[in-house]
Amino acid sequence: KTGMFTFDPGFLATAACESSITFIDGDLGQLYYRGYPIEQLAEHSDFLESCYLLLNGELPTAEQFAEFNRKIMRHNMLNDQIMSFFKGFRRDAHPMAVMVGVVGALSAFYHDSLDINDAHHREVSAHRLIAKVPNIAAQAYRYNKGLPFSYPKNGLTYSENFLHMMFSTPCEEYKVNKVLAKALDRIFILHADHEQNASTSTVRLAGSSGANPFACIAAGIACLWGPSHGGANEAVLKMLDEIGSVENVPAFMEGVKAKTHKLMGFGHRVYKNFDPRAKIMKETCDEVLNELGLRDDPKFQLAMKLEEIALSDPYFIERKLYPNVDFYSGIVLSAIGIPVSMFTPIFALARTVGWISHWTEMISDPGMKIGRPRQLYTGSVRRDYAQVADRK
Ligand code: SDX
Repeated sequence: KTGMFTFDPGFLATAACESSITFIDGDLGQLYYRGYPIEQLAEHSDFLESCYLLLNGELPTAEQFAEFNRKIMRHNMLNDQIMSFFKGFRRDAHPMAVMVGVVGALSAFYHDSLDINDAHHREVSAHRLIAKVPNIAAQAYRYNKGLPFSYPKNGLTYSENFLHMMFSTPCEEYKVNKVLAKALDRIFILHADHEQNASTSTVRLAGSSGANPFACIAAGIACLWGPSHGGANEAVLKMLDEIGSVENVPAFMEGVKAKTHKLMGFGHRVYKNFDPRAKIMKETCDEVLNELGLRDDPKFQLAMKLEEIALSDPYFIERKLYPNVDFYSGIVLSAIGIPVSMFTPIFALARTVGWISHWTEMISDPGMKIGRPRQLYTGSVRRDYAQVADRK
């Protein structure tokens, strides 16, 4: 509409919706949140400010940000009854199963008092989700480890508070390493939104029926869990463990070409030259490993070797397969001390703001209609019922 972007008719035919939140150019490797390049936000912004931008469409003034921060902090505790839901899970339940269940259960606490046609109710729901999902993720980790539940500590930044909730114990306060917290904050920014990806489309489709936002975000978490989507960062670390050493890379690559397995963390439905987030993630990986004296981390060395080989191999070049955001994020999270099982919950934590921004944009549109994708029917033509005796 602003004349900035022109789309070919073929593209328009596939467009699921109109949105003003995030712009991606897959050929140029461009990603903008509300018009701001991801590279600039990763360098100059922080995650909570980027949340404000995605939700409201503009960067906040100092006063607006202070008020937003206060609102988020006001909602970051969990109703004490919510804590009982964690105990219904086996200790070894995957944290994503816990997040789907507990985020969905938030509906039971807010559904009856929530009118999604009221802009204030929508705003409070967005604040509640942005504030509570990190707490739920951290308690899922602690429950899995048999640790007592923890509480947010206001006055810390959003990312510092998440690390505090994850790792502090009653006996010992977690000393936040500012470099690591900043790296985690950047991971949150990079994963915050990404246009109409599978999980965001899930949230939009669920929300188009008028379902409450907590249930819609739980649906998005469920979709994100898959290894082709948000589960890829966990799959990358498992892949690196499976390969083991650089010597095994050629054999592994042969298996990829024979299609017995994929190179996890590579490829993308939209980016066909490079994922701008992967470049920033690789730099962040470098910073974190330098900070921790892990420059020679074998996993990082192996990942860089895999990338080098893949980028020079015609099989990958012909198929336009490049590292995506998930290729290096797992190595950074590992180095920070976050277990592999928490990688996708962290992706879900970051993407919550994107999901709820798209939900808000859609629900705020008075012309919104329920989504109803159609199909190309490939089944049997009309036929009459056959009695059992006549069947073969
Ligand atoms: C995310 O949509 C988003 O925006 C998602 C996301 C977000 O922020 O929300 O960016 C986050 O989900 C990133 C992607 C994370 N997933 C992975 O890293 C898993 C590994 N990658 C793939 O499974 C795959 O690349 C997809 C699912 C991401 C894309 O799959 P497509 O659409 O099938 O890829 P394509 O059409 O470009 O494939 C072209 C060819 C095919 O081979 P041929 O049939 O031509 O012989 O490349 C092959 C594919 O089989 N291929 C791969 C591959 N990805 C595609 N071969 C080996 N390894 C891979 N990773």
